[in-house]
Amino acid sequence: MIPLIEAHNLSKHFGGRGWFGRGRPVQAVNDVSISVARGEAVGLVGESGSGKSTIGRLMLGLIPVTSGEIKLDGQKVGAAHGDHARRLRRRMQLVFQDPYSSLDPRRKVGDQIADGLVIHGIAQGDEAREMVKALLGQVGLPTAHADRYPHEFSGGQRQRVGIARALAVKPDFLVADEPVSALDVSVQAQVLALLADLRNRLGLALLFISHDLPVVRSLCDRVIVLYLGRVMEEGPVEEVFANPRHPYTRALLSAAPSLDPGKRRTRILLKGDPPSPANPPSGCVFRTRCPWALPACAEAVPARRAAGPGHDFACLRDLDP
Ligand SMILES: Nc1ncnc2c1ncn2[C@@H]1O[C@H](COP(=O)(O)OP(=O)(O)OP(=O)(O)O)[C@@H](O)[C@H]1O
Ligand code: SF4
Ligand SMILES: [Mg+2]
Repeated sequence: MIPLIEAHNLSKHFGGRGWFGRGRPVQAVNDVSISVARGEAVGLVGESGSGKSTIGRLMLGLIPVTSGEIKLDGQKVGAAHGDHARRLRRRMQLVFQDPYSSLDPRRKVGDQIADGLVIHGIAQGDEAREMVKALLGQVGLPTAHADRYPHEFSGGQRQRVGIARALAVKPDFLVADEPVSALDVSVQAQVLALLADLRNRLGLALLFISHDLPVVRSLCDRVIVLYLGRVMEEGPVEEVFANPRHPYTRALLSAAPSLDPGKRRTRILLKGDPPSPANPPSGCVFRTRCPWALPACAEAVPARRAAGPGHDFACLRDLDP
């Protein structure tokens, strides 16, 4: 598949200079490459602090990269200025975990959905109002809700408003950062079904950030497993979930018993918290928590190895299936 968006060797380090040049930079993202094709959903998983949201923000051009390059349809994101940058930004949108925080409580949601249409010169006045109604319909909300204020919606409805607002400018690429984790399970299913439907109907490229593995499995085509800002394993969802090759992926999967109710996975308990991204371990960054670690794991960063078509992992060892 031809990628719509490609990120090559992305790194993001925060801070580090501090007072009088002291302090180590936080290595939030290190040498991560991601591509997403039209109509494809890629899941980004990993513990809290593994760099998921930072990657999403980098790919949308919302924060500058420390190194690496992002291209949308072959055009560099980040290097663009003026109208060109605005056009690129329109094509890439973000759906937040908590749309409440990004909606103005004092303005009707219809007006807020229309903002993007006006800013990007897509429509205004009556035409914009008609488009807002159509968008509300697209996300399964009554058109009359355009006149409501954010507090007059339930959590799931508010998330639909957030999705409608992102879709208003007809994006090609959508980053959904934990879009359902604040919702009840029954409402989660509805919002996920909506995202899946929109991806199919509109051919959106979707980067889906989550630490909920069953949800990633149900929605995504491919999955990328992150630890301390680095990719541990990547591949087709069914392949990675059925045949995980990296110890960290195995640990994550073993902690999600609802994935295969019939299949018993040995629970792999990870001790402690991930180390500080300001001071990552030498060699394999997972080694301080890896039950399979060997002295050699401290020596060099493991190279990515192929496990199957489109499936690779970064570990020195070959574990039993
Ligand atoms: N603006 C910032 N300044 C300094 N450090 C930051 C900044 N943003 C993120 N970080 C650090 O970068 C690392 C990755 O953060 P990020 O928010 O990308 O993680 P995440 O995987 O999205 O976590 P969560 O699951 O909790 O949302 C963390 O150690 C975080 O503290
Ligand atoms: S390289 Fe070593 S420490 Fe890292 S995941 Fe593999 S076995 Fe564990
Ligand atoms: Mg996050």
